Amino acid sequence: MAKVLSARTTTARLPLLPRPWTADDIPDLSGKTAVVTGANSGLGLRTAEALAAKGAQVIMACRNELKAATALESVAAAATGPKPEVLPLDLADLTSIRRAADHLDVRENAIDILVNNAGVMALPRNVRTAEGFDAQFGTNHLGHYALTGLLLPALLRAPAPRVVTVSSIAAWGGVINWPDPNWRVIYVRWLAYSQSKLANLLFTAELDRRAAGTTLTAVAAHPGLSATNLYDSGTEKGASARLAALQQQALVAMAQPDRMGALPQLYAATMPDLPGNAYLGPGLETFGYPRRTLRNPLAYSRTQARALWRLSEKLTGITYDWPA
Ligand SMILES: NC(=O)c1ccc[n+]([C@@H]2O[C@H](COP(=O)([O-])OP(=O)(O)OC[C@H]3O[C@@H](n4cnc5c(N)ncnc54)[C@H](OP(=O)(O)O)[C@@H]3O)[C@@H](O)[C@H]2O)c1
Repeated sequence: MAKVLSARTTTARLPLLPRPWTADDIPDLSGKTAVVTGANSGLGLRTAEALAAKGAQVIMACRNELKAATALESVAAAATGPKPEVLPLDLADLTSIRRAADHLDVRENAIDILVNNAGVMALPRNVRTAEGFDAQFGTNHLGHYALTGLLLPALLRAPAPRVVTVSSIAAWGGVINWPDPNWRVIYVRWLAYSQSKLANLLFTAELDRRAAGTTLTAVAAHPGLSATNLYDSGTEKGASARLAALQQQALVAMAQPDRMGALPQLYAATMPDLPGNAYLGPGLETFGYPRRTLRNPLAYSRTQARALWRLSEKLTGITYDWPA
């Protein structure tokens, strides 16, 4: 007589798909301190909430006090450990970065996790930082280069510090405009954004190389296409404003929720199984659950990474103080 399989037996024999990684899988972060830049909005806010929910002491580094105060309430509501705090930080101003870093370095015993998340995208021509850098290169790359360097002593006090820098699919179209990295001669806003996001990857690779011999690991992540306020940051007044608004609406309509978009950077910030210079993104690149992903081959260039580091030292006047 033919053997009849019960439904239960049949199911048990089917190969199981791996369960996707979600914020529930973040390990317990009790006793850890995490600094998240741009934590008042979008991916930074979701990252801060998720880290606080797992018990980390979260420091929300934000430039706008009012927005930060509102965001603080929702991170505090998610927190299961120490109360989150706001740290004033404007990445487009080296004086503000120094002030924020001094405050943290003096106060904190150690910083376990630094998420270099804040960013601006496709700003109109001639938006400049306090030091006159292009706002996208200045905020997205130079500001985070400076902040990470100034926080290095606090990071190195942690047993296994992790620096996560948030890049983008846009890095695929990036090249470093070596003759004019601050876009003074010709300005193409999307090239400037792509340059800053390639810079995030080159920075991660070089930071991880320079951290050899310490316990610090540098990794990167990108959120695919996620519905956040980022698509408003490049809004300009004038003739192209309507077209830009339509493009933004279309992009946001296709995008995944910010909570999903934050998963790659959360994985990068918290999972112990990652090698240095790992790069996380959504499974289907624009959306999906996190996995290790590919990057622009230029991001592997040691020559470019070293040259960008030297340029960042020169422009910011900040050199990293590695232990002897
Ligand atoms: N959303 C996407 O689809 C997408 C795709 C690829 C990459 N990313 C990257 O994801 C990161 C987070 O962006 P998001 O999508 O979450 O956008 P968002 O909602 O606009 O958040 C950006 C955050 O950065 C902050 N910020 C901007 N300039 C700053 C400065 N000078 N100093 C301090 N903070 C500053 C913003 O503060 P304010 O609220 O005060 O402006 C805000 O908190 C960015 O690095 C972005 O390039 C996003």
